[in-house]
Amino acid sequence: MASRLFSGMLEAMDRGAFPRSRKWLWRRLYDMLARFWRDDDWRFMNYGFLPAGEPFPLKPEDERDRAFIGLYQQAVSGLPMAGARLLEVGSGRGGGARYIALYHAPATITGLDYSPATVRLARRLNRDVSGLSFEAGDAERLPFANGSIDVVVNIESSHCYGDVAAFAAEVARVLAPGGWFTFADMRGRESLPELNRQLAASGLLLRRESDLSPGVVAALDAADRRKRERIEKAWLLRRFMSEFAGMKGSILYSELASGGVVYVARRYQKPG
Ligand SMILES: C[S@@+](CC[C@H](N)C(=O)[O-])C[C@H]1O[C@@H](n2cnc3c(N)ncnc32)[C@H](O)[C@@H]1O
Repeated sequence: MASRLFSGMLEAMDRGAFPRSRKWLWRRLYDMLARFWRDDDWRFMNYGFLPAGEPFPLKPEDERDRAFIGLYQQAVSGLPMAGARLLEVGSGRGGGARYIALYHAPATITGLDYSPATVRLARRLNRDVSGLSFEAGDAERLPFANGSIDVVVNIESSHCYGDVAAFAAEVARVLAPGGWFTFADMRGRESLPELNRQLAASGLLLRRESDLSPGVVAALDAADRRKRERIEKAWLLRRFMSEFAGMKGSILYSELASGGVVYVARRYQKPG
């Protein structure tokens, strides 16, 4: 039953069906998660990414989150981050914005999320970091002035949106000339051309694209035990949470491993 519900959500997400109810449903889900799972050591809600090759540097206290930080590290590496005004859209529990604030020295970083309970939790979990703030707001109507942001980060959030093209147009509006939009999320393989069209309609220029799927599957493998321990506590929602968290044996895990679902990264730049 839980597997069917989740696979139905994935399919509807991919076909772009019922955009408003889908958006409403995801928001309720994230609100519920923020109310019931308030653990101090749970700052990420992404599937993670473990790149092949040399591991990137991390402080010992952040090692346990390496897989989840990996999506952020690949998103910002090589971008002009020092002194930049940063916006993360769909910041969740704030672990990614926290990593960027602590390792990449932006001037300011704002995390925006449309789940008010998640925003409150992110504020509490990251109150020890300066220059970092969290606000409630919708990706499709960014509450920021034209040209006021240098880098927009968006990690594993866009699949919840009702209108991805509206989101991309908003990103283009708030970015300063020459500013960067760095994006990562998953889609069914057949939906990738549609995603490319939605993002390109913003007028932003595509500078880099990659398929992160193998590294995401490696991260799901690495985090499986830790997630299983957490999910054990959710006796009523255990099956649903296993699907949602992409545990081994879940539909999402199998789809990512077999290539039916692809986890992509894109970097766009606003013309200068
Ligand atoms: C899978 S979580 C990822 C969170 C974070 N990026 C991370 O990697 O840990 C997706 C997040 O996107 C947020 N979100 C979904 N739709 C949104 C929207 N329309 N506007 C802003 N945030 C949204 C959700 O509330 C949730 O916190």
